Amino acid sequence: MLQLNHISKSFGGVAALRDVSFALTRGEIHGLVGENGAGKSTLMKIIAGVHHDYQGTLTLDGTLRSFASTRDARAAGIGMVHQELSSIRALTVAENVYLGAQPVTRFGAIDWRAMQRGAREHLARLGIDVDPRAKLGALSLGLQQLVEVARVLFSGARIIILDEPTSALSPPEVERLFAVLRRLRDADHSLIFISHFLDDVLAICDRVTVFRNSRAVATARATDISKAWLIENMIGAGHDALEESYTEDRQLPPVPRTPVVLKASSLGLAGAFRDVSLTVHAGEVLGVYGFMGSGQLELVHSLVGKLPADSGQLAVDGRPVRLRSTTQARRAGIALVPESRRSMLFGEEPVFKNVTISMLRSIGALLVHPAAERAIAERQAEQLAIRPPDVNLPLRTLSGGNQQKVALARWLTRLPRVLLLSEPTRGMDVGAKDDVTKIVRGLRQQGIGIVVASTEPETVLSLADRIMVMRKGSVVHEFAAEAVSKDRLLAAA
Ligand SMILES: Nc1ncnc2c1ncn2[C@@H]1O[C@H](COP(=O)(O)OP(=O)(O)O)[C@@H](O)[C@H]1O
Ligand SMILES: [Mg+2]
Repeated sequence: MLQLNHISKSFGGVAALRDVSFALTRGEIHGLVGENGAGKSTLMKIIAGVHHDYQGTLTLDGTLRSFASTRDARAAGIGMVHQELSSIRALTVAENVYLGAQPVTRFGAIDWRAMQRGAREHLARLGIDVDPRAKLGALSLGLQQLVEVARVLFSGARIIILDEPTSALSPPEVERLFAVLRRLRDADHSLIFISHFLDDVLAICDRVTVFRNSRAVATARATDISKAWLIENMIGAGHDALEESYTEDRQLPPVPRTPVVLKASSLGLAGAFRDVSLTVHAGEVLGVYGFMGSGQLELVHSLVGKLPADSGQLAVDGRPVRLRSTTQARRAGIALVPESRRSMLFGEEPVFKNVTISMLRSIGALLVHPAAERAIAERQAEQLAIRPPDVNLPLRTLSGGNQQKVALARWLTRLPRVLLLSEPTRGMDVGAKDDVTKIVRGLRQQGIGIVVASTEPETVLSLADRIMVMRKGSVVHEFAAEAVSKDRLLAAA
């Protein structure tokens, strides 16, 4: 039905797709898997008319096509649910279900009643009972995601692309979605399903294509393959030097005999994670790994009081604590460097102010001689190899990697007992990643307990002494004092 041949696409000289060929048949669910950055979304955006500037050909029903816009692709029967939510939170549920395609009355006005009735019906088919007049922004992330899925599923498209549609869904929501996908397939629609949940992919898909390093490396029938086969193809078996560093074993050290600085017992937060127990020793880095939506990011936000847990206990240095706010967490000695650097740093302020600000807060000093402040920051900047090494520059002029180092540097001026790092190296180049690794090792040597939560296997493999794996809100495995590799980590998740 749909055939792409020899597709290549690059962004500013960086290849996103290299000579990819892909075929979709009528009435199949075709899974796409591959690590972040492998090129899956880019290929789908070519099919959906988002990107038009590429090499290669696209054939639909035997006719050579080239879509000039998403509208063009929609007119040809192609609908896509994007990885990034594109719904509008300020609009109602019904308006979002009909975004860009509102029904009209015979007088040409928008038919609100038809819209509300239709939206209610569509959502009921996905098992959702929400008021179509409710503002989308008032719903949970999972429901927002389903509203977006509903828009495309019931738009009349015969080729439907779902790019990681289940990351924010609960297991029953996923089951209901899958039932609808099967019905659409049985009605001769063709679906492309992208997901990191390999068990789900094997369960719902007829065929699966694996992407690696901008290439489609293998396609097989789901019944002929296993999760291990998928992982092997996703990460490569160490065929080239780049992949080797990821596939070899890493020996995790024995658990240290130092005191436990952070202990969580059966911590839970409805809709995010449940029954999480963990310990972090002084001078130890605990990695928490899981795919997007597995609850590990919510967990660290809970450990710092931002998303207070609703069950379980927490203790710092053996003393029970209840964290209802970040202020309480800071007093208890727990600090977080969050995934979004912007929320913690002040871009317009010079680097030195950003470095010293937590120290100033902690000693309650409102006025410190700027020269002294600069001197402290200069020492830190030198230690951390912040580039350029001029602490007077506004922070926003630094690269993302260097901004991240500034975020970490603040905690070097006053050590917390427990430092939580959420996605500490996401989007960084190799050099900046190495620097962050060095900083984390330095902090560990000073005896603080560190928790690194990430969706990137390389991040936990390079930083952690012990690794906890989360899946869909629960801890499913722990690697300690043993050899671990990327494929074992992926298999556990
Ligand atoms: N709009 C864009 N501009 C620049 N680079 C991009 C853009 N979209 C994707 N890329 C790059 O192309 C590569 C493939 O990305 P993507 O298709 O999103 O991968 P996947 O969906 O498999 O995670 C990555 O290196 C990504 O950074
Ligand atoms: Mg993607």
